[in-house]
Amino acid sequence: MDQLLVALDVDNRDRALQLADQLRDVAGGFKIGSRLFTSEGPALVSALVERGDHVFLDLKYHDIPTVVAQAVLAAARLGAWMLTVHAAGGRSMLEAAADAARRTDHTPLIVGVTVLTSLDSTDLAAVGVRRELPAQVEALAELATTAGLDGIVASPREVTRLRKKLGSEPLIVAPGIRDGAGAESSASGGDDQARTLSAGEALAAGASYLVVGRPIISAQDPPEAARAIVRGLEKTASKS
Ligand code: C5P
Repeated sequence: MDQLLVALDVDNRDRALQLADQLRDVAGGFKIGSRLFTSEGPALVSALVERGDHVFLDLKYHDIPTVVAQAVLAAARLGAWMLTVHAAGGRSMLEAAADAARRTDHTPLIVGVTVLTSLDSTDLAAVGVRRELPAQVEALAELATTAGLDGIVASPREVTRLRKKLGSEPLIVAPGIRDGAGAESSASGGDDQARTLSAGEALAAGASYLVVGRPIISAQDPPEAARAIVRGLEKTASKS
């Protein structure tokens, strides 16, 4: 299912490749975050790209515009299909990232991270942000998309509001998906996802892609957990 992206939040290459081999038929791509990338580096990205996988490189770039542009070019050379930057890096940085992507042969998609789900309004105030959290998310989403990014990353609970604000075109990538067999396995593992929706609800709200990690990768049977999520989606779609 193209819209299901599995977060390979593990720390070694063998496990990552094993999961990718098991899940390739049911997933639309694999997310590599800073943990796995720091352990295994670009070679792992190349290994997945060589197998024909869509790699979502979630390194959340946030630096001066020229450095971010060079990082985007390097990620594109590796064959990354989608990557993340922090929208809080500012308009020049976001424009530099989007321009760099367009200069490459197989332009990767770039999505902007708005406010990390781990932050609350007290954290925002401590770094000088006076807006309420939802307003800050909306402002950064608008900045990211008007600066030329392909879309944003947002909690599924924010998708309806953001879809209304941004219109139908920008991609909205939603982590924080919990349902079916996955909900049980993640709940027993001490879950830190607070504001979740089911996969079907998130897509119905307007999400373009769903990012699911532990409910699949920590399940006893990862392919079955992924298939259960897809079955849940099909059920929701047939009801609407
Ligand atoms: O919770 P799950 O394992 O499905 O996480 C998938 C992705 O969601 C993670 O790789 C991380 O990027 C993101 N995440 C988040 N907020 C959390 C936990 C994870 O945005 N509290």
